[in-house]
Amino acid sequence: CSYLQEKDRKEVLEVLCNGLARQEYRGYDSAGLGIDGDKPGEVVYFKEVGKVAGLRKRIAESNIDTTKSFVSQVSIAHTRWATHGPPSYHNCHPIRSDVTNEFMVVHNGIATNAAELRQVLQKRGYKFESDTDTEAVAILTKYVYDSQPNKRITFTELIKTVLKELEGSFAFVFKSVHYPNEIVTARRGSPLLIGVKTEKKLKVDFVDVELAGPEAENKTVDSLAPSGPSALLAPPTGPKIQRTQSRAFMSEDGLPQPIEFFIASDASAIVEHTKRVLYLEDDDIAHIAEGQLHIHRLRRNEAGGPPTPATRSIETLEIEIAAIMKGKFDHFMQKEIYEQPDSVVNTMRGRVNFDSSRITLGGLRAYLPIMRRGRRIVFCACGTSYHSALATRAIFEELTEIPVSIELASDFLDRKTPIFRDDVCVFVSQSGETADTILALKYCLERGALCVGVVNTVGSTISRETHCGVHINAGPEVGVASTKAYTSQYIALLMMALQLSEDRISFTERRNQIIEGLHALPGQIKKVLEGDKSLQELATGILANSRSLLLMGRGYQHATCLEGALKIKEISYMHSEGILAGELKHGPLALIDENMPVIIVMTRDSLYPKVQSAFSQITARKAQPIVICNEGDDGISKGVKTIRVPQTVDCLQGLLNIIPLQLLSYHLAVKNGFDVDFPRNLAKSVTTE
Ligand code: G6P
Repeated sequence: CSYLQEKDRKEVLEVLCNGLARQEYRGYDSAGLGIDGDKPGEVVYFKEVGKVAGLRKRIAESNIDTTKSFVSQVSIAHTRWATHGPPSYHNCHPIRSDVTNEFMVVHNGIATNAAELRQVLQKRGYKFESDTDTEAVAILTKYVYDSQPNKRITFTELIKTVLKELEGSFAFVFKSVHYPNEIVTARRGSPLLIGVKTEKKLKVDFVDVELAGPEAENKTVDSLAPSGPSALLAPPTGPKIQRTQSRAFMSEDGLPQPIEFFIASDASAIVEHTKRVLYLEDDDIAHIAEGQLHIHRLRRNEAGGPPTPATRSIETLEIEIAAIMKGKFDHFMQKEIYEQPDSVVNTMRGRVNFDSSRITLGGLRAYLPIMRRGRRIVFCACGTSYHSALATRAIFEELTEIPVSIELASDFLDRKTPIFRDDVCVFVSQSGETADTILALKYCLERGALCVGVVNTVGSTISRETHCGVHINAGPEVGVASTKAYTSQYIALLMMALQLSEDRISFTERRNQIIEGLHALPGQIKKVLEGDKSLQELATGILANSRSLLLMGRGYQHATCLEGALKIKEISYMHSEGILAGELKHGPLALIDENMPVIIVMTRDSLYPKVQSAFSQITARKAQPIVICNEGDDGISKGVKTIRVPQTVDCLQGLLNIIPLQLLSYHLAVKNGFDVDFPRNLAKSVTTE
């Protein structure tokens, strides 16, 4: 954060630690921060392996004078998900350029050419103390600075030079003793936003972007300045740029004003301070000093994607702080499971008209004709989001009669899958920031396909870079194990299939049946949640000492089994596998004996008889499966352990069947004392390849 506003250290440390704690779900191997020291330009930093609570403790135990206040100051902080080097003190960010802390950097993403840079810098005598790729960036910055004959390079130009040498993805924030009270932040591939807080009303809500290189010749630029004589910073050296004084961030009365800037990966870190944010685009470099924000461009927009706009507008977020608090629940995951009766309503709100049985997805309307003409629909996603696409594939195929393929984003890229202009590519992502999914999106944009986003996080990269899309409106999801986003993605995709088929009279009855099913859904989810106690008993009873758990189903329920198994392994660290019941006899049957715990999903749909035969095949091998079945189903023999759920339309049944599995995984993790919201080695938003 950067302040032009009197603040003492205590307050700044609090802002940083709270911000880190709110972003901890993105990674929690270690945490660190750097603030201004007592002497001008001096940097003091704290680091701790583990969670933010440990960092707070370390700060509290230090002898730093927290009462010292500053009129202007900048500070940086980071919570890490290890990519290069294990969690350790030295690998924890901020990463410094040298023992005197000349340059301090925090970084998300991976600099893929860090090893080469490290070699070059080591040859020139620079010493490294960590295993991180980030250190090569910090030291490179010092190297570029040291190489300037008179050290008169601006901070922005310096970082621009450094970034030109980097490959990979990043979001960086730099702080330096050479540039007191200045901060530079930049992104390529990893998310970054800037929150702006002022007491006064702003007159203009945008920031002009400075275009470097050939594009700069005819464009006017500047950035952002409050009013008053201090508004004009010396123009940087380098490319020829025509400048104008920007009016953005001028207060209505035209007077200079105290101003605070918060830089973060996502809005949850800053929403308690301000709801006014601007999202940076790839290759933006933002410089903040003296209460002014300037945005510069690193290079021209590459071919393929939509052109990068020349302004960044300041948007007002709609997130409420309560939405990112746990409230009465013990864990975020538990809260999010319990939110589902409401979150599914929010996904449907204003889009499903239950009286006329019509669906209106505003974000797709203009693109429906192109989508209907598409020669196939390709879904690209990772993790839970991939499962939501799998869960709705059959209904897409049935209602649209367009071939559908479902791709794991990483594999899709590995295979360099052929994509054509008449393909419709749908990118499903809770965060909208998953690196593999973003790369797949870029790949499809370059090939001219229509790209559609299905995203929860408003303002995220995927929601901005797709041609059109649907926000699932599930509200912020914090628990690493995705729950409410899954059910909302499922419904959003289902609504998309329904809308795409609205021109088909022959499907009217089927569509009406599904829409009626959607109407009853929130009440039915509540009913399933009432069974929580018996799922807790299962976790602490017959499944308590299991080392493995197989989940079996077919048709619509195959996705339920994969998603249920993912939940179980993610947070309870128990081996779990989702098995397509049709494949049972081709391998998995060999695992079955009286000791192998199995859950079989046997709710009533057209495949029920086939699942019954899978049931018989495993019980004949002495398995004692737990059966997820519909209330009132008397086809299940007495003595078989059941988990009962209400019955709904076949393509919606997965929305109800997944909930007991979410609850079961939750209780298995709690029983073992595991950190439910922060499972080891995982992160909510994986912004590296
Ligand atoms: C990570 C998370 C998963 C999530 C997946 C895709 O692996 O731990 O919960 O399903 O990323 O994330 P996305 O934000 O793209 O849905």
